[in-house]
Amino acid sequence: MEHRALSRLAAPAVAALLALTTGCTGDTVQGRPGASGLRDPYFPRAGNGGYQVDHYALDLDYDPADGQLHGTAVITARAEQGLSSFNLDFSGLSVEAVTVQGAAARYNRTGNELTVRPAEDLKKGEVFRTEVDYSGKPKPLADPDGSKEGWITTGDGAVAVGEPVGSMTWFPGNHHPSDKAAYDITLTVPRGYEAVSNGELRSRTEDGDGRTVFAWHSPEPMASYLATAVIGPYKVTTGRTPSGVGLYSAVAPGEAAASTGPLARLPEMVEWGSGRFGPYPFASAGAIVLPAGTLGYALETQGRPVFPGAPTSQELVVHELAHQWFGNSVSPKSWKDMWLNEGFATYAEWLWAEDHDGPTAQEHFEAFLAGDTDVDAEADSDWDAFPPAAPPGPEEISAQPVYYRGAMVLHRIRQEVGDATFFALVRGWAADHRHGNASTADFTAYAEEKTGHDLKKVWDVWLYGKDRPE
Ligand code: TRP
Ligand code: ZN
Repeated sequence: MEHRALSRLAAPAVAALLALTTGCTGDTVQGRPGASGLRDPYFPRAGNGGYQVDHYALDLDYDPADGQLHGTAVITARAEQGLSSFNLDFSGLSVEAVTVQGAAARYNRTGNELTVRPAEDLKKGEVFRTEVDYSGKPKPLADPDGSKEGWITTGDGAVAVGEPVGSMTWFPGNHHPSDKAAYDITLTVPRGYEAVSNGELRSRTEDGDGRTVFAWHSPEPMASYLATAVIGPYKVTTGRTPSGVGLYSAVAPGEAAASTGPLARLPEMVEWGSGRFGPYPFASAGAIVLPAGTLGYALETQGRPVFPGAPTSQELVVHELAHQWFGNSVSPKSWKDMWLNEGFATYAEWLWAEDHDGPTAQEHFEAFLAGDTDVDAEADSDWDAFPPAAPPGPEEISAQPVYYRGAMVLHRIRQEVGDATFFALVRGWAADHRHGNASTADFTAYAEEKTGHDLKKVWDVWLYGKDRPE
């Protein structure tokens, strides 16, 4: 007995020893656990190491009457190392089963980490399929800055918003913006409800059981914080911009004013953005207008931003639209790079105003320096409290300096290099990093190379400097 047990142990040990000494594993897969976080400077546990996701197929069945969600997530990923186990980020809900490559896998959960141990180790480079079946009543979570994100109920429905880490409340995944993937999100809801997500609506069918199935398809890479699912008695409108970008919008009952307000100019804004920043990065555009009061902010969910009630300013609509180029197509490498999202989206507001009989960007810039709230209501905010490329902590990644001083960095570049070179830089940035990820260091290097100017002083004073710039 003892002897047999020993020899059973000995065989793998000998194989491991051979692999070590020869540096070759032959048929033996030598997996090790994937990292449980990507060490993001602000959200160190967000995301996971050892694999990259290619595609998420999310099949979600939701009943607004009882708030119960039944989900199946099929995650197709590529192993970047031999894996004996790997993690998914997942918060709340109950996991019912996990399979990897069709075989039942063992799993356990600690905090927001779901650790999956496949029946067989995965080889480096292997494309593998993980299916997670889950259910329960999804809940929102609180951001470090106190705002709400994740799965949020809206009375007669729900909305999912994920910036920065809320998407783990409604599906398991590699929830860090550095791992973008294609998505197919299928939402099954009781008849009479609309269900809206990112991308294009492939089909809308009745399942014969009193429910409607909406199949949404997003072929372009998407960071998971930009995924959304909106369910409720919305009014849907569709159309096309003059240049052919598809439009699909949903407006909550009671927010009908949205259709005659600033949102009515969205088609024109898409064309304007394409002129300023280069081709619109996605196959479709639109907006989702939530019942007022369900959310404290708008979010640039991919292709189809959500607004907390009918937007009342053109600038807000332009801001969320501009994120489609800056943030959604060119995504941050880490949450420290947030100013690349918000500085650009804010600067887009100034450019829209400049191009439409409002204050020029120069006037906006000067208003902030002077605290002149006649030009911009935020001009006397604490926009100068910290350098935009270095928020003091995770609770500040959406604070004013990231937006306004971030926009001022861009305007300082424009002052240094002139309009023609500046707009070539902006378009080049969007084109060269289209559907990718970029960091602040990538941007500063790119800006100097593209413009041929030494911009060190701008970076030192405006981007990284602690003192209020003069
Ligand atoms: N990124 C959003 C925008 O600029 C705003 C946002 C999302 C936000 N989540 C937040 C603002 C949390 C404050 C707190 O459109
Ligand atoms: Zn923004």
